[in-house]
Amino acid sequence: MREVLVNPQAGYYMHRDVFGQAGDFTTSPEVSQMFGEMIGVWMLNEWFKAGMPQPVQLVETGPGRGTLMSDIIRVFSKYNELIESLHVRLVEVSPHLARVQEECLCGTSTASNWTGDAFKTSTSRNGIPISWYRDIQLVPKAFSFFLAHEFLDALPVHKFQRTESGWREILVDICESPDSPLHLKMVLTPSRSPATMLIPEGEERKHLEICPQAGVFVEHLAERLEESGGVSLIVDYGHMGEKEDTFRAFKNHQLHDPLSLPGSADLTADVDFEYLRRCVEGKAYTFGPVSQGKYLTSMGIGVRLRKLLEVTRDRKEAENLLSAYDMLVSPQKMGERFKFFAMFPKAMTQLLESNPPAGF
Ligand SMILES: C[S@@+](CC[C@H](N)C(=O)[O-])C[C@H]1O[C@@H](n2cnc3c(N)ncnc32)[C@H](O)[C@@H]1O
Repeated sequence: MREVLVNPQAGYYMHRDVFGQAGDFTTSPEVSQMFGEMIGVWMLNEWFKAGMPQPVQLVETGPGRGTLMSDIIRVFSKYNELIESLHVRLVEVSPHLARVQEECLCGTSTASNWTGDAFKTSTSRNGIPISWYRDIQLVPKAFSFFLAHEFLDALPVHKFQRTESGWREILVDICESPDSPLHLKMVLTPSRSPATMLIPEGEERKHLEICPQAGVFVEHLAERLEESGGVSLIVDYGHMGEKEDTFRAFKNHQLHDPLSLPGSADLTADVDFEYLRRCVEGKAYTFGPVSQGKYLTSMGIGVRLRKLLEVTRDRKEAENLLSAYDMLVSPQKMGERFKFFAMFPKAMTQLLESNPPAGF
């Protein structure tokens, strides 16, 4: 998955825009500004509850086109005290997407410099400093809002299968057969591979996907929250440790064989939120996962929709707003499939028990 998605030469994300109608998939922030605005209001509320600490970092991993960040910044811009001490930090491996993000947020396109911690620095249209990093480890430590939207599903999973002889790992091999149009095939390891150590005791499923990189990521966030304060919000499609085989590819908005034409289609696996919760148990105070529909509704997306409809004079625009709302909230669409999971410093446990975050 890592090679196919982020190989510097031929990785799927590295040199093209893959989002929206003309791309392979559409994400929630690309559906409507209401999505990012609800997250912005949620963060703002948590900042007030934390006593308005300054300075503040807003750190997003895998920011795509920059749309979500742009909608959040618009909400934050209503509060001078916040905006004056804000630094936006984006974690991105794709030089192409970093350029798209800079154009979206700053209206400029500057060269990358790979010698320091940040490979790009710029300033948003309303004067907020923005820096780009290849890795979350390079982001400076400070009170932060961490945001990962459809980021963890792009990280590589190990796949395991229960056989009569015990657990085996599923790997990808070259297919020598002239009949194979894909030239690649899935194979089972002949014996237990070292990665089977990741399988928890008492696991009952027949087929299993584990993403250790996602585990390391949330553990790192938990350490930062404890050390410098802040909040993390993870949004992705996922489950609570009950799903089995979710690894798949998307091309032109259709399911696609993940072994066919690697590098030309998005690869993804559902996020196992139960695994993430276990990784940070005792290290952070967590909420959720709750469904996107529940989170957005309790954050007031219905009120925002009504406000936008009031100022809309165009009938087509009003229809688009209503259909975007339905797409984001409806349980048959993105409302149930996507989940929100929040992490807070463990030290805030008592406060959070009496005053939990909105939306959860
Ligand atoms: C599915 S897109 C989501 C984009 C955006 N968050 C949205 O929802 O529209 C995944 C994003 O993660 C980035 N990405 C993928 N693998 C990454 C990695 N290992 N490290 C950092 N960024 C990565 C991609 O370049 C892209 O920006």
